[in-house]
Amino acid sequence: MISSLTFETLRNEIAGFAVADLAQQFGTPCYVYDLESIERRIADLAAFDVIRYAQKALSNIAILDRMRRRGVVVDAVSAGEIHRALKAGFVPNSQPAGIVYTADVFDRESLDLVVERNIPVNVGSPDMIDQLGERAPGRNIALRINPGFGHGHSQKTNTGGPQSKHGIWHTSIDDCLVRADRHGLTVTGMHMHIGSGTDIEHLSQVCGAMEAACQVVGRTVKTISAGGGLPVPYSAEQPYVDLEQYFNLWQATRHRLQDAFGHSIELEIEPGRYLVAESGYLLAEIRAVKQMGENTFYLLDAGFNDLARPILYGAYHPIAIARRDGSGGRVEQDVIVGGPLCESGDIFTQEEGGFVARRRLPAAGVGDFLILEVAGAYAYAMASNYNSKYRCPEVLIENGEAKLIRRRETAEDLLRLELNP
Ligand code: LLP
Repeated sequence: MISSLTFETLRNEIAGFAVADLAQQFGTPCYVYDLESIERRIADLAAFDVIRYAQKALSNIAILDRMRRRGVVVDAVSAGEIHRALKAGFVPNSQPAGIVYTADVFDRESLDLVVERNIPVNVGSPDMIDQLGERAPGRNIALRINPGFGHGHSQKTNTGGPQSKHGIWHTSIDDCLVRADRHGLTVTGMHMHIGSGTDIEHLSQVCGAMEAACQVVGRTVKTISAGGGLPVPYSAEQPYVDLEQYFNLWQATRHRLQDAFGHSIELEIEPGRYLVAESGYLLAEIRAVKQMGENTFYLLDAGFNDLARPILYGAYHPIAIARRDGSGGRVEQDVIVGGPLCESGDIFTQEEGGFVARRRLPAAGVGDFLILEVAGAYAYAMASNYNSKYRCPEVLIENGEAKLIRRRETAEDLLRLELNP
């Protein structure tokens, strides 16, 4: 299915708010999220019994809270993410569990939290079974299985196969059952996540692998998780996944397991990107326009400290211009878009391997705005203080109001933790 989306290269408003007004009120750079977009994506996945949001994609507590109020539960990969989920009001041992810990290691703090707060775990390494079993014998656990294959939008987001550190290798399930028995742990859940930004062909292969893995564990299995990985279109050529087809494949798998085991099986999905990517916009100001030989550069006040996906993966983000005076002239030119950092890789229009690419964009000057779109997932969440830049604010558009959900950092924030003994 080819998406019918178009990405306009001129945009004067975001979710009903004038770009210039948002910039005036909150400053630039600044992330803006449209809650309605997140609501639509939650609704798309309603057929699954449980939507477990992989909060690593965008973990602001206001976003988590809005998800919770719409019936979504969360996944956590660290002690910090557990604390965020608790702060946003999730209850660990509700039904379904409000928080589940999914990782390949326990650091000491996360193990303490999981034990003390009774947080269910998707175990991603056999050692975790012993570490949990020694502290909390008798619990139920889920195994995150690496089915021996994987796929992602980049080699760096492929989480399956022998090159990946993720999950329990599919032929090690028996060993895990022996370890679990030793501590009186029961394997009640099975989980697979083969990669992020993958496609329906690869996602579909997971169903068969899941069924085989569940057969090895047997009748104790009560929950299966399809993991995340659902792609979203970052350009007009990229498709949306056919969700009905995807759900039907999992539904058939679930039914076969129910028939085999004689009890009901709960079906979870664990998306990050799908729920939030399209909701997000990184709003920046053009601070310099310069000619380097035959290339024109727009240099922004946002850099890879704000949005790292292009430098990390050669990721493509749609780009739009909003002129400060709101004018609509459509003269276009090929430009390279970069940021302020003292590093030549600080380019938003680059391809995998670091090759700089030109983008056809409306003519613009200093003081005009540039918007990096489809920037809700793995965008603010991967922001840093490189070059001692302050992390930028986050704004949520909800019920026709633009609300600050994280303020811009200050010099004081930047220096607060440092000591000079
Ligand atoms: N579940 C597990 C166990 C995961 O490791 C992940 C993502 C997800 C769910 C959610 O995957 P999603 O539905 O978002 O594809 N920084 C990269 C993506 C890294 C994904 C890490 N794990 C990017 O910007 O593309």
